[in-house]
Amino acid sequence: MCGIVGYLGPRDAAPILLAGLTRLEYRGYDSAGVAVQTESGLTLRKLAGRIGGLKIALGRDPVTGSCGIAHTRWATHGAPNERNAHPHVDCTGQIAVVHNGIIENADVLRTRLECCGHHFVTETDTETLAHLIEDADGPTLESRVIAALTHVEGTYGLAVIAAGEPDKIVVARRGSPVLLGVGEQEYFVASDASAVLEHTRSVVYLDDGDIAVLTRTGYHVIDREARVQTRPVNALDWDLEQIALGEYSHFMLKEICEQPRTLQETLRGRLLFADGTARLNGLNLTPEDCRTLGRIVIVACGTSWHAGLAGRHIIEALAGVPVQVEYASEFRYRQPVGMPGALTIAISQSGETADTLEALRAARAAGSKVIGVVNVVGSTIAREADGGIYLHAGPEIGVASTKAFTSQITALLLLGLYLARHRGLSLGDGRKMVEQLARLPDLAAEALQIEGEIKALAQSYVEERNALYLGRGINFPVALEGALKLKEISYIHAEGYPAAEMKHGPIALIDQDMPVIFLAPKDAVYPKVISNMQEVKARGGRIIAITSKGNGDLRGLVDHQLSVPPSPSLLSPVLTVIPLQLFAYHIAAMRGYDVDRPRNLAKSVTVE
Ligand code: M6R
Repeated sequence: MCGIVGYLGPRDAAPILLAGLTRLEYRGYDSAGVAVQTESGLTLRKLAGRIGGLKIALGRDPVTGSCGIAHTRWATHGAPNERNAHPHVDCTGQIAVVHNGIIENADVLRTRLECCGHHFVTETDTETLAHLIEDADGPTLESRVIAALTHVEGTYGLAVIAAGEPDKIVVARRGSPVLLGVGEQEYFVASDASAVLEHTRSVVYLDDGDIAVLTRTGYHVIDREARVQTRPVNALDWDLEQIALGEYSHFMLKEICEQPRTLQETLRGRLLFADGTARLNGLNLTPEDCRTLGRIVIVACGTSWHAGLAGRHIIEALAGVPVQVEYASEFRYRQPVGMPGALTIAISQSGETADTLEALRAARAAGSKVIGVVNVVGSTIAREADGGIYLHAGPEIGVASTKAFTSQITALLLLGLYLARHRGLSLGDGRKMVEQLARLPDLAAEALQIEGEIKALAQSYVEERNALYLGRGINFPVALEGALKLKEISYIHAEGYPAAEMKHGPIALIDQDMPVIFLAPKDAVYPKVISNMQEVKARGGRIIAITSKGNGDLRGLVDHQLSVPPSPSLLSPVLTVIPLQLFAYHIAAMRGYDVDRPRNLAKSVTVE
């Protein structure tokens, strides 16, 4: 959701805050603002729209000062306009707050504060925080922030500055990520490491309940009782090149094209050729745990949930463990049964998705061991899980997830193999699987070679209003993912369905205006998928088939055939999704949309 940046040090704050916001714009982009400590007190600049507008405004009318906070917003409470943009201030304009999360009792607090004479000017929940801090008693800003937060229900990652204590930023976290960047006599606050990467690689991740106090001479972390907490300084392993666009027109295209390398990174050091298994050091499962595992529950959202569906096929086929895949948002409010003895896997690119995090906590509370399959190192899910697998796919900036999906499936293939080898898969079969996995990056590179063909095809479909994606078995999740990619960046209505389910309803939609994209790699259900294509053809539907090379020529049956390299069925989603990612990308780019920042979406959904 929203992005937060803060700076305190010897340099001019505004350019640093703006650069940080630009890095975070993928987290929210409906409005932005900064508050800087200047010689005349707090100075605010806010605007609706993208960071570019704020940069121009600050260029025309600069604010000078070396301590400040900033925010890029994804609206939850109140319209995305200038008034509702953060930072928000108290009645006196002496306290400024940026906030990520939701204050659930904001209405009650607002009524109470208004009765005490506070004057609200925005529709946001965040403004209550500024007034609560104004109202609180205490000798220091941090003591007043702590006092204010005792009234608050909900989630927050927040940063506060006050004119009365000009060389200080107070930061607090509950449920929304915040980290500190530690530089040479300068300190940063950010909701995401990419905002501080160009200044420092040393970061401190705050835990829920932490309050951090940054001054010119250092920082410290305390809890709500003002007891000092020790938090380690972590080294970031991302580099600046990974968050730069380079030669590409969009991050999404860059990230699609990066997949041979990111798959390599997910596999690096994890393939044990002689032992025919995977090395997964962080998993924290004993051989006994693997052998006695009764059930796996996967919790995730969006694209990560699709990866989980593919993971079910992989783990059940390889390791013979029953797998249940749950929308995290639904699972967290159920009464899960039979969790002791189960292993819960939370899959999340960001590691910060609120529903996935809460599902993980619910699973643990119900007695399950929990592991994470996560991309962002040091993220909350990664830290709260008992163990896990990092994707090492590097920062994913495009809001539409691409490289994380293929790395998630690859990580689940590694996990499936690892479990399987403890549960009776033979050494020979394990070695075969390791060999197959090792070839995956090259196969992905080959799959990318048809980009030109896909771009030409996208031209013919750019005006469509609907699309149906059909697949079976392990390629049904790919159909869901292909449809999600198209709808989220091109705003074309698209649905993914199990190919055979089409007959039970969606077939009524088929006519010449309904493009149908079939996932049809060579596997056990290929003949069945061909029959489903015939059913569509008979009703005048237009068909694009994603097949494997060597499947034969389907001309006569389909309108367009795109082929990816052949692979064992369990690996095929990593390859068959690539043409769908490119198809969605080119259609959205041809429509002139902001591919990396689609409307209404945010990269990391840190509110419910
Ligand atoms: O960071 P996560 O993997 O937990 O995010 C889950 C979803 O919000 C995410 O996959 C979303 O569906 C993307 N926009 C898909 O492209």
